[in-house]
Amino acid sequence: MDKFVIDGGRKLFGEVRLQSAKNSVLPLLAASILTDRRVTICEAPAITDVSCMAQILRELGAEVTFQGNNVTIDSANACSHKISSALTKELRSSVFMLGSLLTRFHRAVIAYPGGCDIGLRPIDIHLNALKRLGVNITERDGYIYCECDRLRGAEIPIDFPSVGATENILLAAVKAEGTTTLQGAAKEPEIVDLQNFLNQMGAKVRGAGTDTIEVEGVKTLGGVEYFPIKDRIEAGTYLIACAICGGEVEVNGVKPENIGLLLHKLRENGCKIHTKNDKIKIASYGRLKCNRRIETMPFPGFPTDLQAQITALNTVCEGGALIVENLFETRFKYVPELQKMGADIEVRGRNAFVRGVNKLHGATVLAGDLRGGAALVIAALAADGVTEVLDLSYLDRGYSDLQGKLRSLGSEIKRVRI
Ligand code: UD1
Repeated sequence: MDKFVIDGGRKLFGEVRLQSAKNSVLPLLAASILTDRRVTICEAPAITDVSCMAQILRELGAEVTFQGNNVTIDSANACSHKISSALTKELRSSVFMLGSLLTRFHRAVIAYPGGCDIGLRPIDIHLNALKRLGVNITERDGYIYCECDRLRGAEIPIDFPSVGATENILLAAVKAEGTTTLQGAAKEPEIVDLQNFLNQMGAKVRGAGTDTIEVEGVKTLGGVEYFPIKDRIEAGTYLIACAICGGEVEVNGVKPENIGLLLHKLRENGCKIHTKNDKIKIASYGRLKCNRRIETMPFPGFPTDLQAQITALNTVCEGGALIVENLFETRFKYVPELQKMGADIEVRGRNAFVRGVNKLHGATVLAGDLRGGAALVIAALAADGVTEVLDLSYLDRGYSDLQGKLRSLGSEIKRVRI
C-alpha cells in the first residue's frame, strides 16, 4: 500500500495537462459493447477505475488492448451477459453495463454495484426506467436479473436527474424499437459526450445537455474512434489547489461554462480567473475570503465531486462558510481527517459549518474516498510541515499521476511504498 508524503507551503506555478474525463470514459467503455465492431477510446486516463472496467469487458469475452493510453475494445466474440460480484463491487459504473448488455444480448445479470462509500446510492431510477423499455427484472441473492424479448421505446419521466440512470437509459434505448423520450434527464457535459459518441456509432440521440433527450432506435451500430472530453473535476481540483497554495496555474481543454459555478466561487474567494476559449488561468495571492454558502446540485449547480476540495480551501480562508451537500448523504467523511490538520468544521447532517483558521498543520490522515482524498492532498499542500496521506487506492481510481502533476507545479510530494 502506498502513501503520499507532502511537505506543504509551496506556491504552485505552471500548466496542468488534463486527463480525459473519468465520468465520460467509464460510460463510453460500457457503450463499447453495443456494437461487435472495434471501438477505440483515445487518451483514456491511467486510473484504476478504467482498468477495472476493462476487466469487466474482458470477463464478457471482449478483447481489450491498451496502446499507450488508447484503449481498443473488440467485442465480436463477447458472449457472456453476467458480471461477477467481485468486479461489480469494485466499481459502481458497472451498473451502466445493464443498459448496454440488454441492448447487445437482451439479458443482463449483475451483482449490486459498489464504488466509493459515499451514501446509499440506490439504483431504483435505473431499474424503473428499464422496466418501461420492456425489461423484466428480478432480484435474488444480491444479483439483479434482467431480460426482455425486445426493447421497446417509451416515454420515461425520471424524478431526479441521476447521471448514471440517464446514461443507462440512453444505452438501453439506442437500438430499441421506436422512439424513447427521457424527461427530467441529467444535463452533465459527460452526457453530451456520450450522446456524441453514440451518434458517431450511428445512433440517433438528441437533446443531451437539456432535460429532454430523444432517442430514435436504430438497427445497427458501427465502430468508432473517439476522443472524450477533458476532466472538469480534475481541472477544478488543480484550480482549488492553486487557490489554497497561492501562485498561478493554467488548465487547458475544459469549457469554462462546464465548471462555471466553481469559477464564480473562486472569484468570490478573491482569486483572479481568466478564461479564453477552453483555457482557464487562476492567480491567487494573499489571504482569501470564505464563500458564504455553497450548495451541491446537479449540473449546472456546484458539483458534489468538488465539494470536499472547496471545503478544504475554505478551512484557511477568512470568515466562515456553510457547505450543503445535497447529493450524497455521507460525503463529509473526510472532515475528521481535516480536523486532525487543525481545520475548524462542524458537520450537522448535510451541512458543514467551516470557520476559517490561519493555517493548517501537517498530520497523518487517511484517504477514505476519492474526492475526500483529494481534499486532504489539497489541505496538505498548504499546511505547515509534513502530512502523510495514507491509502492511495481511492485517489488512484480517479486521478492519473497526481504526484507527477503536482510536482511539476512546484509542490513537494512523494509517493512512498509502505
Ligand atoms: C455520477 C458520477 C459521480 C457524481 C454523481 C453526481 C459517474 C461515473 N459518477 O454518479 O462522480 O458524484 O454522478 O454528480 O459518472 N439516485 C437514486 N436512485 C437512483 C440513482 C441515483 O436515488 O437510481 C440518487 C443518488 O443516491 C444520489 C443522486 O441520485 O443522491 C445522484 O446520483 P447519480 O446522479 O445517479 O450519481 P451517479 O451516476 O452514481
